[in-house]
Amino acid sequence: MIELRNVSVTFTSKQRRDVEAVKQASISINTGEIFGIVGTSGAGKSTLVRTINLLERPTSGRVIIGKVDITDFKGKSLRDIRLKIGMIFQHFNLIHTKSVASNIRFAMKAAGKPDNEIEQRIPELLSLVGLLEKAHTSPAKLSGGQKQRVAIARALANQPDILLCDEPTSALDLDTTKSILELLKDINRRFGITIVIITHEMDVVKSICDRVAVMGEGEIVESGTVYDVFANPNHNLTKQLVRHSLTLELPDRLIAEFKGIIFKIIYRGSQAESPILSEAVALFNLKLNILHGKIEYIGGKPLGLLIIGVAAPADTIAALFKYLQESTYSVEVLHESD
Ligand SMILES: Nc1ncnc2c1ncn2[C@@H]1O[C@H](COP(=O)(O)OP(=O)(O)OP(=O)(O)O)[C@@H](O)[C@H]1O
Ligand SMILES: [Mg+2]
Repeated sequence: MIELRNVSVTFTSKQRRDVEAVKQASISINTGEIFGIVGTSGAGKSTLVRTINLLERPTSGRVIIGKVDITDFKGKSLRDIRLKIGMIFQHFNLIHTKSVASNIRFAMKAAGKPDNEIEQRIPELLSLVGLLEKAHTSPAKLSGGQKQRVAIARALANQPDILLCDEPTSALDLDTTKSILELLKDINRRFGITIVIITHEMDVVKSICDRVAVMGEGEIVESGTVYDVFANPNHNLTKQLVRHSLTLELPDRLIAEFKGIIFKIIYRGSQAESPILSEAVALFNLKLNILHGKIEYIGGKPLGLLIIGVAAPADTIAALFKYLQESTYSVEVLHESD
């Protein structure tokens, strides 16, 4: 488990005023999970994640890895703990004057690994990331996705328990992003490595994270399972972030012209798979229009959003509203014509 307890990081400089990059942030990351950190630019995500391997020292607060408080580690104990924590970055940070194999060799030599172990491990790592045939190539000649694969192989070279990923797919196109995320997930499942991933893309969170923390202006404003955060965002920042994935825009014309009432309904879990609407139609003898809708699957669990329009007498509408409140996750009136 990784635990950050009330971690603050303040950057001080003589020329400029102090920057409180991280303020009293607390998170617990379970062993073996994929934990996402999302937030706006400058929110302090990178700074927070860099406290996990003490690339950034907290100004106050504690960093605990597997029950051991490492906050004050220095020298050999710090080097040893860092070997257990691999890291990858948006721009890969490979050494272009060395071949792919030498990039990995360099990381293993720095960790004091013996030559025979290094030479045995390099091809294993390269085949894990699907780049065995590129061993002698310069990283400069590889595509972005291939470079990130090399960076992943290098980060895994010393068999870490934790992999920190700072925007690992932000420089990649959609298909490449997908393949890198699949690789990370595969590594997580096969080796039980705990993964912490910073991203500004909610799609990344949705596709691989188990839990997520949302960061704004140095603070963790919300955290929870990915499903809960998407289905029920509390903080405004979270609402903004998930909006792209869970809103449906109706054309103004349609709203202006619609005679009746327009409801927005959210379904969670098994509700999304039961015939609630057709039951409502039968129960209240309704005519209803489905104006917009979609079902998202997050970690295999459905989350549905539906916008319906109904024209009916007021008492029927009231009864329908009550029925929907009882049988769905939430129902809201979007518009009512005069
Ligand atoms: N070494 C540093 N010295 C001074 N200020 C810094 C330093 N590193 C980061 N900051 C400041 O701390 C704040 C948080 O930066 P950080 O890089 O952690 O944000 P971020 O959420 O990772 O942003 P992005 O999404 O743009 O990568 C910013 O205001 C940044 O300018
Ligand atoms: Mg950053």
